[in-house]
Amino acid sequence: MELTAATDPVAVSVARRDGFRRAVLGAGDHLWRDLPWRRTRDPWLVLVSEVMLQQTQASRVVAPYEAFIHRFPDPGTCAAAGTADVVRLWEGLGYNRRAVNLHRTAQIIVHGHGGRVPGDLRSLRALPGVGEYTARAVLAFAFGSQVGVVDTNVARVLARAVTGRPLRKGEAQELADFLVPDTGSWRFNQALFDIGAQVCTARRPGCTRCALRRRCSWLRAGGSGLDPAATGRRQSAFAGSDRQGRGRLVAALRASPIAAATLARTAGWPDDADRARAAADGLVADGIARWEGESLQLA
Ligand code: ADE
Repeated sequence: MELTAATDPVAVSVARRDGFRRAVLGAGDHLWRDLPWRRTRDPWLVLVSEVMLQQTQASRVVAPYEAFIHRFPDPGTCAAAGTADVVRLWEGLGYNRRAVNLHRTAQIIVHGHGGRVPGDLRSLRALPGVGEYTARAVLAFAFGSQVGVVDTNVARVLARAVTGRPLRKGEAQELADFLVPDTGSWRFNQALFDIGAQVCTARRPGCTRCALRRRCSWLRAGGSGLDPAATGRRQSAFAGSDRQGRGRLVAALRASPIAAATLARTAGWPDDADRARAAADGLVADGIARWEGESLQLA
């Protein structure tokens, strides 16, 4: 059996790789979701979508994405706007620091890259808010590069279907890069997203209707053992969290400034002025808001 190079951490045979590719692409045809960012190869529009998708489900991204790219169809229009305008358009997405970073990224693209999103990993990684995942997503989806795009959903599919054991982040990336076909990396990566989002879900995966069923390492091992994708970590509850209070403040700020005296009530913590003040100061530190006397405003 022909094996991959010794450096390949999971030693997937070439035959297995090819079968996996075919199965993924076939599944992708059935599971295809017509999402607006899949209708473009424009690097800016792809970058915007991938920043929005970092921590937010695709279905919740569609409407804010369309509003955002209508207002900011290119880095120039975004760079020329005020941060407050960008944060306002982030409504519904949460994690507002991403909006501030995207605005700064637009300015760097305009002033440092001639208005064009750079097409190499190093330059992309140097942009604020662009991590390993987002940089590779832009390379694959806008520039047609042959790289794997590994978010938590894709990492889960690979751990279950290919290795049947947990994968470290670097391992998952190397494996994904190895699996990506020479041509059609765009389609392959999108198909993996569709499988991860709709079939190979974190809880209650749909194994009986999964196109990878016959090749899946986890199922071959009986499927009953410990889930190879289980991390033991669960996202902490949103209700009652600091993030919820911050979200309430930003939602109110989109409409109007908040007087210091009403901060605690607006954050949803009427009896905890210190916590509300800390949340407001966090927004200021992140560049989302600023104090104007005793009034908190969008930056
Ligand atoms: N999550 C991250 N990128 C995505 C994409 N292009 N399509 C669907 N879900 C995604």
